[in-house]
Amino acid sequence: VKPIIIDCDPGVDDAIALMLALRSPELDVQGITVVAGNVPLALTQRNARQICELLNRRDVPIYAGCPRPLVRSLITAEDIHGKTGLEGATLPDPTLPLQTTHAVNYLIDTLSTTPAPLTIATLGPLTNLAVALIQKPEIAEGIERIVMMGGGITHGNITPVAEFNIYVDPHAAQVVFDSGIPITFISLDITHQVLTTPARLAAIQTLGNPVSEVAAAILGHYGKVDEQRLGTVGAPLHDPCVIAYLLRPDLFTTYRGYVQVELSSPLTLGQTVVSRDAREAPWVDIVDTVEAEGIYELLTKRLENSDSLSV
Ligand code: BDR
Ligand code: CA
Repeated sequence: VKPIIIDCDPGVDDAIALMLALRSPELDVQGITVVAGNVPLALTQRNARQICELLNRRDVPIYAGCPRPLVRSLITAEDIHGKTGLEGATLPDPTLPLQTTHAVNYLIDTLSTTPAPLTIATLGPLTNLAVALIQKPEIAEGIERIVMMGGGITHGNITPVAEFNIYVDPHAAQVVFDSGIPITFISLDITHQVLTTPARLAAIQTLGNPVSEVAAAILGHYGKVDEQRLGTVGAPLHDPCVIAYLLRPDLFTTYRGYVQVELSSPLTLGQTVVSRDAREAPWVDIVDTVEAEGIYELLTKRLENSDSLSV
């Protein structure tokens, strides 16, 4: 069982990623840290608590982190995720309490004292991790690997060249890329191949349990803007790719490269500049191919099981 921390900004696709992780016995989700991103922090933390409650996983502690990026003002994505961040679902007010510890302090404390290095799944802007690394760089030794959804190689989604998570806090992303921690980089070039087609949504819809119903409802609303602008049938399901990678790395291939973030040009701010030259360090494992059907089969299977994994 792999111990992981999930850093996220739910967000519809973050919520689906949480469902996949919390329904997977191969993963021990030790904590969820939340950041401002798709919607402001007050909503991302609320959404994380609602999803854990829906899954009957009240055992997983949730920590609220940074309410804004390091340098820039917060940009949100209600056009994709709706006003609440989970458009399409009406979930009860969460009763699961938020932890009183700040997410950055939780990361520092946990990563400084963990007996074995942990994996961190990052699904949102990298502010929490960057602040923790700035405050205490030695925590890098407590991280086995960061598996990250962020960036684009051939295109962006919030600007022609920048992807949302990196664009929201490009300075934080650069801190993380400079850290020397092993990183697996899952970009838009991969996630745009993992589309929510009607057949895939129908397979989730027909499961007919409380969790799959919420998944189908939020995915039904999600990504209409993306579908229109990309001209695709179905929208890219970004963040679950990170969890799928941890569960089934055989569904992906990677190559070793080098990633830097553009921090000064107004035109290309937040672009991830990716080199295939593996001689440069620190190197990054860049995901190159994905088997999308395998990801949806895995997700559908895990949503089918209505038994809770709660302890
Ligand atoms: C990323 O941005 C967010 O809107 C999604 O949750 C995902 O993490 C995709 O660019
Ligand atoms: Ca996200």
